[in-house]
Amino acid sequence: MKSFDISDLNTVQVHNYLQHAIAPRPIALVSTIDRAGKVNLSPFSFFNLFSANPPVVVFSPSRRVRDNTTKHTLDNLYEIRECVVNIVDYSIVLKVNQASAEYPKGVNEFHEAGLTELLSVIVKPPRVAESPVQLECKVNQLMPLGKGPGAGNLVIAEVQLMHFRDDLLDDTGKPIQQNFDLVARLGGDWYCRTTDLFELSKPI
Ligand SMILES: Cc1cc2nc3c(=O)[nH]c(=O)nc-3n(C[C@H](O)[C@H](O)[C@H](O)COP(=O)(O)O)c2cc1C
Repeated sequence: MKSFDISDLNTVQVHNYLQHAIAPRPIALVSTIDRAGKVNLSPFSFFNLFSANPPVVVFSPSRRVRDNTTKHTLDNLYEIRECVVNIVDYSIVLKVNQASAEYPKGVNEFHEAGLTELLSVIVKPPRVAESPVQLECKVNQLMPLGKGPGAGNLVIAEVQLMHFRDDLLDDTGKPIQQNFDLVARLGGDWYCRTTDLFELSKPI
C-alpha cells in the first residue's frame, strides 16, 4: 500500500488520485443564464443526488487551478439562482465534452457543441433537448469550499420539475434502467458506459 499525506502533494496530484478512485461519477450537464440573458452550458462530474424530500442535487464548479478564477456557471448562479441539470447519456457524450472547452464568458456552449435549446417550463435557463432526463432546479445554497485554486463551490439545487424521455419509462411510469445508457466520468480522460448492469436485491 502506498500512502499519501495531502500536504506532500500539489492540487493537480490530489485531484488526479481522487478522481481515479472516486469513480464512476455521474455527469450533470448544467445550463444557466446570466442577468443579461446569456446562456451557458457546462458539464460537472462532481455531482450527485443528496436528498429525495426535498429533492436535492449537488454539483461543484471548482475555481480554475490555472488562475484561481471562478467558472461562468458559478458566476451565473450568483446572478440568477436557477439551473437545469441535464443528464448525460452515451449518444451526447462527445458534444458534452465539447461544451467543457474554455470558451470566453458570454459564449453559448449549446451552439458550440451542437446541442438544441428547449424552453424550460419554470426556470429561465433552457433545457438540452437531446438529454434523456432534464431537471429544472432552483438553487437553495451556494457554498464555497475554499478560496484557493481548485477549491470547489457546492451548488445545492432543489429539483422543481423533472422531464423523462418516453422510452425510459414503461406503461406504468416505472423507469427502465437498461434504456438510460448513462455515461460517467473516471480519472484522467476515462469515461464509462452503463453496459454492464446487474441487479442485487436488498437483504431481508
Ligand atoms: C465530463 C466532465 C466533467 C467535468 N466536471 C467538472 C466538475 O465537476 N467541476 C469543475 O469545476 N469542472 C468540471 N469539468 C470542467 C468544466 O466543464 C469546464 O471547466 C467548463 O469549461 C466550465 O465552464 P464554464 O466556465 O462555462 O462554467 C468537467 C469537464 C468534463 C468534460
